[in-house]
Amino acid sequence: SICDQQIHIFSKCALPCVPPPPGAGIATFPASEFRCLRPEDPSSLCLECPLHLDEVCHFLTLCPELSLGWFEEGRLVAFIIGSLWDQEKLAMDALTLHKPHGSTVHLHVLAVHRTFRQQGKGSILMWRYLQYLRCLPYVRCAVLMCEYFLFPFYQKSGFKVQGHSDITVGPLTFIEMMYPVRPRVHAPQQWCLRGHEPRLMPPSMGGV
Ligand SMILES: CC(C)(COP(=O)(O)OP(=O)(O)OC[C@H]1O[C@@H](n2cnc3c(N)ncnc32)[C@H](O)[C@@H]1OP(=O)(O)O)[C@@H](O)C(=O)NCCC(=O)NCCS
Repeated sequence: SICDQQIHIFSKCALPCVPPPPGAGIATFPASEFRCLRPEDPSSLCLECPLHLDEVCHFLTLCPELSLGWFEEGRLVAFIIGSLWDQEKLAMDALTLHKPHGSTVHLHVLAVHRTFRQQGKGSILMWRYLQYLRCLPYVRCAVLMCEYFLFPFYQKSGFKVQGHSDITVGPLTFIEMMYPVRPRVHAPQQWCLRGHEPRLMPPSMGGV
């Protein structure tokens, strides 16, 4: 089906952030599409998402490649937003900062449009996102903080409880969870280039 083809195409590593070519004519929307987000995309979902719109736009400007949206016939039905973090544990700064040299993806939000909940979409999107992260050589793990009642949901996606989060928001407390995107490889470390910065990376992950 068209839907299956779309899913297949977008399961390849490169997330398409490419705008349609000029003069492409009337837009036709695929039945189902996964792609990274643009700042204008999530406005329809932000009311139901724990992040404010300005926070969403902030991260989509800094690191759109760490977001993933699920569109059905052009309509955004679910999305994930992440940024990079560079410490073992999440600190208050992690709520607002993107650390470009970090190797931990901090998942700020997973949101599914209200009318599409309880259909497995949140779990599927998370699965696809974690698959996608494996294709980014600088990512070692994904972390998130959530309220206690949601930890079984993330556990089903493969996240492990790390303990209580140091972060509180008003009266809310959280637990921190981690998914090992790329478990540590005990091999001699070598330098490789990512952008203009040298980074340590084991040879099995393409280090040169
Ligand atoms: C949490 C959320 C992403 C789940 O998406 P979804 O597409 O409905 O999830 P799925 O259909 O894949 O899985 C459903 C499972 O989610 C869990 N779940 C969802 N909402 C829950 C809630 N309010 N309390 C407890 N568990 C919940 C349950 O484990 C449920 O499984 P069950 O029906 O067997 O009990 C969605 O409810 C949402 O967008 N909520 C608002 C935004 C939010 O709070 N995001 C998480 C923090 S950033």
